[in-house]
Amino acid sequence: MSNSIQVISKYALGKSDDQRIKALSATALAAKHTLESGSGAGNDFLGWLHLPTNIDEQHLQDIEACAARMRQDCEYVITIGIGGSYLGAKCVIEALSDHFAAYKSGNGPKIVFAGSNIGEDYLYDLMDLVRGHKFGIIVISKSGTTTEPAIAFRLFKEMLEKQEGKEFAQRNIVAVTDARRGALRGLATQEGYKTYIIPDNVGGRFSVLTPVGLLPIAVAGFDIRALVIGAVEMEINGNKQIMEYAIARNVLYQNGKKIEILANFTPRLHYIAEWWKQLYGESEGKQHKGIFPASVDFTTDLHSMGQWIQDGERTIFETVLSVGDQQHEVIIPRDEEDLDGLNYIAGKNVDYVNKMAELGTRLAHVDGGVPNLLITMPAVNERYLGQLIYFFEKACGISGYMLGVNPFDQPGVEAYKRNMFALLNKPGYEEQSAAIQARLKK
Ligand code: PA5
Repeated sequence: MSNSIQVISKYALGKSDDQRIKALSATALAAKHTLESGSGAGNDFLGWLHLPTNIDEQHLQDIEACAARMRQDCEYVITIGIGGSYLGAKCVIEALSDHFAAYKSGNGPKIVFAGSNIGEDYLYDLMDLVRGHKFGIIVISKSGTTTEPAIAFRLFKEMLEKQEGKEFAQRNIVAVTDARRGALRGLATQEGYKTYIIPDNVGGRFSVLTPVGLLPIAVAGFDIRALVIGAVEMEINGNKQIMEYAIARNVLYQNGKKIEILANFTPRLHYIAEWWKQLYGESEGKQHKGIFPASVDFTTDLHSMGQWIQDGERTIFETVLSVGDQQHEVIIPRDEEDLDGLNYIAGKNVDYVNKMAELGTRLAHVDGGVPNLLITMPAVNERYLGQLIYFFEKACGISGYMLGVNPFDQPGVEAYKRNMFALLNKPGYEEQSAAIQARLKK
């Protein structure tokens, strides 16, 4: 078993793709050069490219010390953020946690999330959960002005101050934001919160390895050093795998496969797919171009989306994220009566059955006309997650340039905000407000 993420494309591409692979290999090399030389669009957002090798000891120690203090003081830590200011921490914490951590008592605080939706009942239920308990807040927003986290922070800041007093709140609120700009920076300075900076040249969805991800992951009790080591390994040695993935998905896209489905057979990877969708969706979906990133959790979704994938419109390809070792072993017992007919797998561990389901599914989907890319990770731990994060980030930068878009901006996400602000009568939006009202009256 390799000690690194690997990409296998032989079930996705065939002889007939040779010409296209050759042409797109050249495009990928040019895109890689554009990225690494910083000569492409969005080149002021390339701080993530050499971030792993530039994280220093002092920075890690500072994050670990802050995390240790919060772990001591708090029963819950509410991590507030949306998009790139949320999904990186969420996916790593979910991938590493006991699946039922929420129902079990353990060491250290429970990490809960807010500010990634505007669900009133969600916020109500979370307030209900932390009422009467000591809690801390990590509020994360690069711009410092995003509405969803701002609403959540206002609510929980007020609640914490009333419940535990100003001093406790000041000690247990940490803000992760821009060095100078934004409302959150001003607020944090005024209140004297501990702050961490999101570097100017690191965009939200590429920020997992900054305090945006590292602080909540450390507060959850996981090893951020191993995560960084994994990312360093990929930064230094990962180009072959990164290029193979970037080339293969673009060959498939040019073959008419407009949708990439990231599939896993490991429940703890559900949020990795959510993070990946945000990374690729927000980076590549521009100028009416881009592979649509979708995801499924198998075998669960074989009993729903499996039918569509096997037999539906042939515009998809599948990337299976395959995990080598599980953390625990569970053996299927023998049953004398065998009423359920399962004795043929008695004595096997559950993951053996899962692996056969995975292989059987991949073969069936290839037979059904769904090209199958395979990404293998030896196990789910901090090191391999660090590798995976950097692998997907760099492949995304290269793939975006291959497509001819700027992978580092997201102009499209402003459209809903303008309408929402106009509808909410936010000062400065009077003209749009009048236009929308007229439109709605028609
Ligand atoms: O990747 C991105 O840039 C976005 O998804 C942002 O992370 C998201 O919109 C949150 O922005 P902010 O951190 O400014 O609140």
